[in-house]
Amino acid sequence: MNSVKKPSGQKTYFIQTFGCQMNEHDSEKMAGMLEEKGYLPSEERETADVIVVNTCSVRENADNRFFGQLGVIKKIKERHPENVIAVCGCMMQQEHITQRIRQKYSWVDIMFGTMSIQEFPRLLEECLATRKKLMSVYQSQEKVIEGLPVHRKYSYKSYVDIMNGCNNFCTYCIVPYTRGRERSRMPESIVEEIRGLAADGVKEITLLGQNVNSYGNESDFDCDFAGLIYRINEIEGIERIRFMTSHPKDLSDRLIQAFVDCEKLCRHIHLPVQSGSTEILRRMNRRYTKEDYLQLVEKIRASVPDIAITTDIIVGFPGETEEDFEETMDLVRRVRYDSAFTFLYSVRTGTPAAEYGDQVPEDIKHVRFERLVDALNEITAQKNALYQDRVEKVLVEGVSKSDGSTCSGRTDTFKLVNFSCGEEKIGQIVDVRITEAKTFSLFGELV
Ligand code: 5AD
Ligand code: SF4
Repeated sequence: MNSVKKPSGQKTYFIQTFGCQMNEHDSEKMAGMLEEKGYLPSEERETADVIVVNTCSVRENADNRFFGQLGVIKKIKERHPENVIAVCGCMMQQEHITQRIRQKYSWVDIMFGTMSIQEFPRLLEECLATRKKLMSVYQSQEKVIEGLPVHRKYSYKSYVDIMNGCNNFCTYCIVPYTRGRERSRMPESIVEEIRGLAADGVKEITLLGQNVNSYGNESDFDCDFAGLIYRINEIEGIERIRFMTSHPKDLSDRLIQAFVDCEKLCRHIHLPVQSGSTEILRRMNRRYTKEDYLQLVEKIRASVPDIAITTDIIVGFPGETEEDFEETMDLVRRVRYDSAFTFLYSVRTGTPAAEYGDQVPEDIKHVRFERLVDALNEITAQKNALYQDRVEKVLVEGVSKSDGSTCSGRTDTFKLVNFSCGEEKIGQIVDVRITEAKTFSLFGELV
């Protein structure tokens, strides 16, 4: 057993991550903690001493994929009973899930939630010493835990979490229940972390939070999200600042001004609208109307004309009528998004909308979804066509063919560009002339 690694005695781990950037970043922290304990990443799950699955519960298909994976991992555990299986993340914050795992997947060794990842090394040690099944799920957390080691996936770009949790309680969304209340990190601590990243050669940072626009709202320090951007903009070595995600109701004029003043702040904003119908927005508890949103977009574009705007849209929220859906179609044609993520509404146990009686039939949801995606794709293609022949600054992120014929990277407006260049350019910002624009990416050549 474990013949691949045992000769050297090297312990290894394998982490599988579902869901959003926040989860990806949490996984980088778990990797950091494991490496501090002497573990190394394993290429293969089968031979890893510790297998971690970091779960997402935002939509039902993520739940299903997780349980599907557990079925596969069960076979691995049968072949390697000494290996430790840990499951964590948003799904573990829900009691009906942890109960189901205890009953039906009792071979899982460790369960821990989003608010107890710092406990992972201790749980692992205890599990190895006692071989007991362990669980640690906190229902609240006062502060974001600082200073956990991070194993970064990339050398030239990095996530930085600035806040955690959400106070918005959109009626479809499970996040306020799985990530708890909003907690913001101290600006000094964020700035210091980014200085360290810059010293390490990181050029692009993405600030993460469920709603970055309310950064600092619940805190006793005097720094809002725009203030934080101004401070980060001063950090030498950092060339690009991005952030995710913005709630339209909290987007301040100061943030719009930061786009004008801060040359490092990338001209892209992800601004989830969710629906174009004011009535559906009310039932979603989004706290803005269709008109508010359109005015906000106009205001942003008046100050930052070439900004790329992307969004999230849910199709088939309970009670969505044909007229409501037409409002969404109208909104997307008026905003003309650079791109959008579209989701079929998914019932989440424990959220208010799960209790709404007027669920939209699946076949209607699908028809609307197809229509919306077609309209969005057409607009995306038209938007991308405007890039034809332009010279864009691109951060080279990867080489997918060893001869360097296919590299990819992003413009500051977050457009994916494919072009030829050598591996040595990875992590550099280069000039690329766009030679062809397609719906999902641009093609170009180095200049
Ligand atoms: N059903 C469908 N989509 C959802 N999202 C969040 N909750 C649900 C749900 N219950 C979408 C929203 C959010 C994105 C991250 O996921 O559009 O912005
Ligand atoms: Fe969920 Fe709404 Fe919070 Fe976003 S703002 S995480 S959609 S509750």
